[in-house]
Amino acid sequence: MNKIFKNPIILALDVNSLTKALSIVSDLKDHIGGVKLGMEFFNSFGPDGVRKVSKFDIPIFLDLKLHDIPVTVYKTVKTLMDLDITIINVHSSGGKDMLEAAVKARNESDNKSTKLIAVTVLTSLDDKDIKEIGYKEKSEDLVLRLASLAKESGLDGIVCSAREISLIKRKLGEDFILVVPGIRLDEDNKNDQKRIMSPKNAIDEGADLLVIGRPITESNDPINTINKILKNIKNDTKN
Ligand code: C5P
Repeated sequence: MNKIFKNPIILALDVNSLTKALSIVSDLKDHIGGVKLGMEFFNSFGPDGVRKVSKFDIPIFLDLKLHDIPVTVYKTVKTLMDLDITIINVHSSGGKDMLEAAVKARNESDNKSTKLIAVTVLTSLDDKDIKEIGYKEKSEDLVLRLASLAKESGLDGIVCSAREISLIKRKLGEDFILVVPGIRLDEDNKNDQKRIMSPKNAIDEGADLLVIGRPITESNDPINTINKILKNIKNDTKN
């Protein structure tokens, strides 16, 4: 059974306590679209931690960025599909065979509507880092090439930075899902994000889902912050 995103906010649950994570989900589940559980969460609390979050009947994006030989990714996706996850991701640089193996594992499972999305180029890498790894292209061209590879391999979308939204939507079409982190309501509260975009601008440019963490989890009034984000998306940019 796959759960529906009732709004575009995916709350990044980057907390190191399961009790805290569950209490946040319990408080905010009726206000957000879904939650993102990352490597820290999964390596600390494992599949049981995911099952505990899943009990709140909220869509889960499991952000494990799988990257290995095709057979290993195939078997891993098969295992993860038992967890009732709505979005799962892999690295597009794992290559076409690996991407297709992930799609095959998803298609063979009972949760065929689970979305498989790809990471293209980590936004922590600049053009110098990309050259150092051995890629010849500039990051924008590389992102577009890897996003196209993901689409050709049958994936449903990608995680991308706000600055890439319009290019990818234009080139890869409306149906290709774009999940976008680095979202902030105001310039003053960037944390360690270098390039940020407002919720409204990201959605207007073509983002489908927004991954937002600290602005909500560190807010004194998380529900009020969520409502401001939703209001901003609806059109009132003056918060
Ligand atoms: O707290 P904040 O809103 O910055 O959280 C953003 C979330 O999105 C974090 O879980 C972070 O790891 C993730 N992310 C990101 N930038 C990327 C990819 C993922 O911030 N390029």
